[in-house]
Amino acid sequence: MKHLSDLNVSGKKVLVRADLNVPVNEQLAITDANRIKQFLPTLEYLLEKGATPIIMSHFGRPGGKRVPEASLKPVADKISELIKKDVTLATDCIGSEVQELAKNLETGQILLLENLRFHNGEKDNDNAFARELASLGEVYVNDAFATAHRAHASVVGIPALLSEKAPGLLMQKELDYYNKALVDPKRPLCVILGGAKVSSKLEALINLADKADKVIIGGAMANTFIAAQGFQMGRSLYEAELFPKVLELMGTLARRGCQLYLPVDFVVAPQLKNDGFSRAVTAQEVPADMMALDIGPATVTLYSEAIQSAETIVWNGPMGAFELEEYSKGTTSMVEHVASSHALTVVGGGDTDAAIHQMELDHKFDYISTGGGAFLALLEGKPLPAMRALD
Ligand code: 3PG
Repeated sequence: MKHLSDLNVSGKKVLVRADLNVPVNEQLAITDANRIKQFLPTLEYLLEKGATPIIMSHFGRPGGKRVPEASLKPVADKISELIKKDVTLATDCIGSEVQELAKNLETGQILLLENLRFHNGEKDNDNAFARELASLGEVYVNDAFATAHRAHASVVGIPALLSEKAPGLLMQKELDYYNKALVDPKRPLCVILGGAKVSSKLEALINLADKADKVIIGGAMANTFIAAQGFQMGRSLYEAELFPKVLELMGTLARRGCQLYLPVDFVVAPQLKNDGFSRAVTAQEVPADMMALDIGPATVTLYSEAIQSAETIVWNGPMGAFELEEYSKGTTSMVEHVASSHALTVVGGGDTDAAIHQMELDHKFDYISTGGGAFLALLEGKPLPAMRALD
């Protein structure tokens, strides 16, 4: 696979796939511009090299229809504000008007195509749709790591049609950290997995059983592990249908010498509310009318000791319902412990990222991935369609 620096982009129209799918509030104001900021080095590199970038992105899930709230207008304004240059937003991403606009671009001008997902052709990887997009440029750069797990037209269709192609600087950085953390890690490698459901992380767990030296489990998915061993979890969320798989996985981890850490206590409450009724109980004593909503203080101590010897830490998913203050301590304490560790620390997933940013400790982590689903796909050991398409 080529690097961006291998491409001759000078004087060329470069189609750049970015993931500018940023969160917005009801007034359509961007609430977190991180993904846009992370894309700017690639954009600035292309401009410095004398290229004319034509940027493509999706925004939300408009389902193949033109939805005004899913316009990339706020994103165009934000890019323009950040790089202090005009950004032209096309009225669509394909069609004669866009063709004309792209043809008449001058070197250094920036064109942002309107939301790719206004057309079903994007999701369906429709050949005609990909051809129309590919005809706008001569070179293809994919910097959209967060969309790298989607085999969509702009991710796999266009690169099949253009021979000059490479990952962008953000994509390259994501892959470099993935390699450092999971392909060739300094050991011990400690993986922390949290979140609500074992089902959504099962494939990752199976894949990581082969790679990690320690696996730490938090969030409601830990409930399934505890309940599978016959402990009462009261009204906690757990997935009973996964008990056999979870027990099998525990056996596999033990046979491979991978240490599994599970909560020894929980913060429980009668309901998911910030109403002062929460308390910590041991994992053996979850009351029948309560639910586990966070890992408890003894578990935080256990987990913080478990990560101390790690040389590499990979973390995905919160330790509890951290969006409510009463159940946030497990996650915030782990943020502090991981942040102060000497290990290489790589984090992925929206919730974990949000917790770290809320605490303003992002600078203490070696890398925070811009991908949610794409990061999980890497943890699952799945090849990313975007990377195959660039190869
Ligand atoms: C994301 O936000 O995870 C990416 O932009 C991918 O979005 P999608 O899940 O709608 O494909």
